[in-house]
Amino acid sequence: NTMQELPSSPRNSKSLSMPFLGLAAVLLLFFASHTSSCTEQESSSLINFLDGLMPDGNGGLNDSWVNGTDCCKWEGIICSSDGTVTDVLLATRGLKGGISPSLVNLTGLLHLNLSQNSLEGSLPTELVFSRSIIGLDISFNRLEGHLQEMQSSNPSLPLQVLNISSNFFMGQFPKTAWEVMKNLVALNASNNSFTGQIPSFLCINAPSFAMLDLSYNQFSGNISLGLGSCSMPRVLKAGHNNLTGALPDGLFNATSLDHLSLANNAKLSNLTVLNLGSTGLSGKIPDSVGQLKRLEELYLDNNNMSGELPSALGNCSNLRYITIRNNSFIGDLSTVNFTMLDLRIADFSMNLFTGPIPESIYSCSNLVALRLAYNNFHGHFSPRIGNLRSLSFFSITNNSFKNITNALQMLKSCKNLTSLLIGINFKGETIPQDETIDGFENLQVLTIDDCSLVGKIPLWISKLAKLKMIDLSVNQLSGPIPSWIDELGFLFYLDISSNNLTGNIAVSLTKLPMLLSEENVAKLDPKFLELPVFWTPSRQYRMVSAFPRMLFLDNNNFTGTIPPEISQLKLLDGLNLSSNSLTGEIPQEICNLTNLQMLDLSNNQLTGAVPSALNDLHFLSTFDVSNNRLEGPVPTGGQFHTFSNSSYSGNPKLCGPMLNLDCTSAATNQTSTSRRHNLRFALIIGITSGGLVALALLACFLIARLAYYDHTENVVPLRSRQR
Ligand SMILES: *[C@@H]1O[C@H](CO)[C@@H](O)[C@H](O)[C@H]1NC(C)=O
Ligand SMILES: *[C@@H]1O[C@H](CO)[C@@H](O)[C@H](O)[C@H]1NC(C)=O
Ligand SMILES: *[C@@H]1O[C@H](CO)[C@@H](O)[C@H](O)[C@H]1NC(C)=O
Ligand SMILES: *[C@@H]1O[C@H](CO)[C@@H](O)[C@H](O)[C@H]1NC(C)=O
Ligand SMILES: *[C@@H]1O[C@H](CO)[C@@H](O)[C@H](O)[C@H]1NC(C)=O
Ligand SMILES: *[C@@H]1O[C@H](CO)[C@@H](O)[C@H](O)[C@H]1NC(C)=O
Ligand SMILES: *[C@@H]1O[C@H](CO)[C@@H](O)[C@H](O)[C@H]1NC(C)=O
Ligand SMILES: *[C@@H]1O[C@H](CO)[C@@H](O)[C@H](O)[C@H]1NC(C)=O
Ligand SMILES: *[C@@H]1O[C@H](CO)[C@@H](O)[C@H](O)[C@H]1NC(C)=O
Ligand SMILES: *[C@@H]1O[C@H](CO)[C@@H](O)[C@H](O)[C@H]1NC(C)=O
Ligand SMILES: *[C@@H]1O[C@H](CO)[C@@H](O)[C@H](O)[C@H]1NC(C)=O
Ligand SMILES: *[C@@H]1O[C@H](CO)[C@@H](O)[C@H](O)[C@H]1NC(C)=O
Repeated sequence: NTMQELPSSPRNSKSLSMPFLGLAAVLLLFFASHTSSCTEQESSSLINFLDGLMPDGNGGLNDSWVNGTDCCKWEGIICSSDGTVTDVLLATRGLKGGISPSLVNLTGLLHLNLSQNSLEGSLPTELVFSRSIIGLDISFNRLEGHLQEMQSSNPSLPLQVLNISSNFFMGQFPKTAWEVMKNLVALNASNNSFTGQIPSFLCINAPSFAMLDLSYNQFSGNISLGLGSCSMPRVLKAGHNNLTGALPDGLFNATSLDHLSLANNAKLSNLTVLNLGSTGLSGKIPDSVGQLKRLEELYLDNNNMSGELPSALGNCSNLRYITIRNNSFIGDLSTVNFTMLDLRIADFSMNLFTGPIPESIYSCSNLVALRLAYNNFHGHFSPRIGNLRSLSFFSITNNSFKNITNALQMLKSCKNLTSLLIGINFKGETIPQDETIDGFENLQVLTIDDCSLVGKIPLWISKLAKLKMIDLSVNQLSGPIPSWIDELGFLFYLDISSNNLTGNIAVSLTKLPMLLSEENVAKLDPKFLELPVFWTPSRQYRMVSAFPRMLFLDNNNFTGTIPPEISQLKLLDGLNLSSNSLTGEIPQEICNLTNLQMLDLSNNQLTGAVPSALNDLHFLSTFDVSNNRLEGPVPTGGQFHTFSNSSYSGNPKLCGPMLNLDCTSAATNQTSTSRRHNLRFALIIGITSGGLVALALLACFLIARLAYYDHTENVVPLRSRQR
């Protein structure tokens, strides 16, 4: 309410809703305004800037930016005590239009923040090379074009923070910038389209340089940085570029002969974040990585790197996050001493590692996520894995581990496990049934797919009270769907496809609480995955609750009918019952599953009609009833236009325009002849009289015919004309 008392604020209600910083700025402006006012050149510069904006994109600034009044009182403007404009703070105002170079005439300007607007055009070079600005943030706009080189030389610019990320800039980054920005502390040029050789960016001659983000651009070429007299930023992100070549061994060489100074050592060892993921780097990780004693985060994922990990990596004892996912590293991880007490997240997946899980990793008592998936690790699990008390995400999918009983016995002592992905291991073993598999009380995601496991779906799974997703697909599990399945109160994703399961589609399956009502779903805790999970090659998930709600029961030996109670699973996104031995009709009630995006009932022995109300399923994008014994017309309208013939093939008695099979000829021989007669009669009248009456008669006939098929469910099917 203090705002109400401000005489200079013309739009109180709007000001009240401003975030705290905005409020602080206005308060500052209020106090500043009592001291002295800005110069005419300054107001003129600002008015010119305002004029450069579009009428519908000036953020309402023209209410307070009135020529002739003191610009120190204008919204978003802060002046020093002597009335010099020092700050122009106009982030997130919906500004549209160009940035006028007139702002360069604010000769005392220190901070310019125009981020998160919709500004277009180029960024005036004068602003980048301003002799006063120390903080320039124009990130998240639609600015474009090349950044120009500086024309006249200037020994040193005051700029400390430059944020031009998330625009459409292209071309080379201006070379002169690196030379004259001697006070630079942070530079963020990420998420643009800069091209050309990656700047010899470590050669910024700025002693306080701490943060450089060049990621998400198209910089290319080698990383070939001699350290020289350059500063090393503490945070270096250049991921998602088009780099080539290897990391040169001298990259981190603090002790290179010419520069064996303590200062250089210190600069080097201060690097805390190195992100060179998705850049196309090849070659080994150089031994000199061990010089980075303060390194906390190392991203080298999605590159073409190879060779063994250097044992010197173990010297980076402050590592908290390491990912080298998706490269071609080889060898035994045990060459590195992973006794790193701060290590929280480690992703070694999709490489060619062999050997056992290194013992040293068991001493990382703060490890939260460990992914070893898609390698060739083997061996047994050590009881020491229980030391990993914080371990929440553990994935060993697709390796050569043996003895699933042992693995589960060891892993159950990791009390904090929420995601356990152990599929494509333990080939042909028997899934343990015994009661001693307990614990796992926090488990939410469990995948044991593609192991060719034999046995029944074990009872211990019923005790995983927090389970949301389970994948037991591609095994040889036998027996029925357990009747306790609906006791899993949070389960919304069940994949038991491609097993040897038998019996009916259990009614208990139609009572899974998470699929029944939104009220139940509201009880789900929003669990963030510690590492993103790639469920399909193209889709990655960061939250468990973002997964679709699915039942995959396909490729088993289920018999009996589809229970009509299936309609209770209102929240279901996908249902796959294909390739079983199901009989009977498709229950009408299935049309109540209005969330369905995928429905696959193919390769069964279903009979009767395809419920026409299926066209109420507006989200359906995959539909397959092929290879059954269905008959009658296929649904039309809505998204049913988009399904191809193959959705219906192998059902000789189905008909409809989709199948080029006229359902009219499908009636009995008598009705079809009498209809043909009527049609001929109408046509004859139409042709001979040529009158409107006849045409109307014809229309009535056709409409009646359509109506007949819309309202009659059990149309006598006709034989296929295609034969
Ligand atoms: C602002 O007003 C002054 C006179 O008060 C005038 O000289 C100047 O041209 C005006 N500036 C703009 C940008 O209209
Ligand atoms: C800065 O101000 C001077 C004098 O007022 C004017 O001539 C010049 O055009 C201005 N510069 C820009 C970029 O607007
Ligand atoms: C970046 O690499 C991709 C794939 O190698 C290539 O298609 C693209 O043209 C490259 N872009 C530039 C700017 O070099
Ligand atoms: C890096 O340092 C190692 C010794 O620590 C030395 O053998 C190597 O030549 C150095 N590389 C460069 C490029 O300076
Ligand atoms: C490195 O970090 C230390 C301690 O944080 C600091 O005193 C030193 O100035 C930093 N060196 C550089 C070159 O940033
Ligand atoms: C690994 O490092 C830790 C701590 O630095 C040390 O105690 C341990 O002996 C090392 N292990 C091996 C096998 O070198
Ligand atoms: C286990 O998880 C809970 C909840 O996420 C957390 O509060 C607790 O600190 C974790 N325990 C350990 C030992 O990390
Ligand atoms: C698998 O592990 C269990 C429990 O540790 C053990 O009793 C069993 O002998 C092991 N089986 C094989 C084949 O090694
Ligand atoms: C599962 O079914 C396949 C083929 O139907 C068969 O070859 C296999 O022996 C069966 N396995 C078990 C354990 O019943
Ligand atoms: C299904 O079960 C029948 C007998 O119950 C068996 O003959 C057939 O091989 C099984 N099919 C599959 C795919 O397991
Ligand atoms: C489910 O479908 C049946 C038959 O189609 C219908 O009678 C019933 O009202 C539907 N139930 C709900 C809750 O929509
Ligand atoms: C329908 O008529 C055709 C010939 O007109 C005949 O071959 C066929 O058997 C008849 N079908 C039925 C079901 O009567």
